[in-house]
Amino acid sequence: MGPDLQGITERRDEAWIIKFVQNSQALIEAGDAVAIQVFEENSKIPMPPNNLTDDQVRDILLYIENGGKVAASEVVEVETEETVASQETVQAETPAEAVSGRKDMRNMQITFVVLLILMLISLFDLFVTKILKEKWIHYIIILTALYIGGEVLFVEATSLGRQQYYQPDQPVWFSHKVHAGQNQIDCMYCHFTADKSMHAGIPPVAVCMNCHNQVKSGKITGESEIAKVTEAYANKKPIEWIKVHNVPDHVYFNHAQHVEVGKVDCEECHGAVEEMDEIVQVEDLSMGWCIDCHRTKEVQFANNKFYEQYTRMHEKLISGEKVKVTVADMGGEDCQRCHY
Ligand code: HEC
Ligand code: HEC
Ligand code: HEC
Ligand code: HEC
Ligand code: HEC
Repeated sequence: MGPDLQGITERRDEAWIIKFVQNSQALIEAGDAVAIQVFEENSKIPMPPNNLTDDQVRDILLYIENGGKVAASEVVEVETEETVASQETVQAETPAEAVSGRKDMRNMQITFVVLLILMLISLFDLFVTKILKEKWIHYIIILTALYIGGEVLFVEATSLGRQQYYQPDQPVWFSHKVHAGQNQIDCMYCHFTADKSMHAGIPPVAVCMNCHNQVKSGKITGESEIAKVTEAYANKKPIEWIKVHNVPDHVYFNHAQHVEVGKVDCEECHGAVEEMDEIVQVEDLSMGWCIDCHRTKEVQFANNKFYEQYTRMHEKLISGEKVKVTVADMGGEDCQRCHY
């Protein structure tokens, strides 16, 4: 990183660097001795693959060779697949919408309390004080209160144990808006196990230090928050992040299945993370939420090696017996797939 890369073009062959930058893990898996050495010397933190073209990597090398100075005319803007995709991303729930959802919930609780009080007053008047002579007024109040109260109670009771809109304060003011938004750092750079394991994982402090070796102060928090990161690294103490999203123990949820096989975008489940200063859970993570998506989501059957063995399904698609295959068609509604 940073100054360490000075003279890199003299130390290594250009073709090798290009391959390494584009997909270092592929080189390592192919048994390239230099790549393996670099990987092992750097605490075995994988550098995620990217869509940089050969010319873009050459531009970066030129930039390093010139000590960080590049003539504007030499910079070529290339639209990578990723930028195109990000321009037409799915409509994710924005933090603003999430907040308005939270307000709705509070309004419901207030309605519930107000109705409860009204109901108690009319019951009291009906049997004790008897001030109002028109009894139908009491009945209307009591019946509406029971109806709406029942509904509120039902909604609140079914969401017991769930934590939609949960947004705990974290030990370090880490902002996804600054990192994934403004600085366009790929989600997979930090959550590098999301496509190959059950858990997306939270990056170790060493990953932060890849950049915060150099970047010592931020525009919003100055030096105070980044200092906590360097201190944690120096003291070999992990940062104690608070987990935001949780499914109950009796539910099996696997990131790799969704990210790698199902090709579901992070945003579809986590909302517009790149606009969040503090992570908030936008979905309720209820069983209905999982099932709704499994019933409607079309699996990307074509050119997906994970589905090659489903020959009968492929035949049905070709013969026109089926127009689309949903997750439910693949067993996404079977209880034991999600419950241990
Ligand atoms: C790929 C590079 C990179 C990585 C990795 C990285 N950061 Fe940053 N970080 C930055 C940049 C760039 C800034 C913005 C500095 C600025 O505001 O100009 C920043 C800013 C910050 C700030 C200050 C925000 C502000 O604006 O005040 C904090 C705190 C921070 N990072 C924490 C972390 C933590 C914790 C990690 C590890 C989980 C991490 N960073 C990983 C590049 C990185
Ligand atoms: C620079 C590193 C970095 C990048 C890039 C990054 N994250 Fe994170 N992410 C973290 C850290 C550190 C945490 C734990 C602190 C927190 O919850 O804010 C986290 C937490 C999360 C959580 C909440 C986890 C929980 O506790 O339930 C989600 C969801 C998430 N990230 C999604 C994303 C998505 C989606 C992207 C890409 C748009 C992304 N992250 C990019 C470092 C990163
Ligand atoms: C199909 C929905 C879905 C998708 C797609 C998805 N997540 Fe998650 N994510 C969840 C659920 C549900 C949890 C809670 C899991 C648990 O409690 O075990 C979670 C938890 C997390 C966590 C907390 C740590 C962990 O692994 O449990 C992080 C970080 C995270 N997701 C990041 C990401 C990133 C980054 C992506 C995209 C590469 C992504 N997620 C894609 C649903 C999803
Ligand atoms: C945004 C859509 C979406 C949401 C929300 C979602 N899933 Fe999925 N799920 C998928 C897709 C796409 C697949 C891939 C289909 C496959 O594996 O064949 C999948 C596959 C699965 C599978 C594997 C099914 C099989 O055929 O073996 C399990 C288990 C699963 N999901 C559990 C969950 C759980 C638990 C939740 C809720 C916490 C959830 N999913 C939420 C889209 C979703
Ligand atoms: C796509 C994944 C998925 C499938 C398929 C699924 N469930 Fe669930 N189930 C969940 C999730 C996620 C929860 C947790 C919801 C919550 O926390 O509110 C849950 C919760 C439950 C609960 C409530 C447990 C409690 O503590 O309240 C029961 C009972 C249940 N499921 C039974 C079933 C049965 C029976 C089937 C088959 C007909 C089934 N589930 C299929 C994902 C699934």
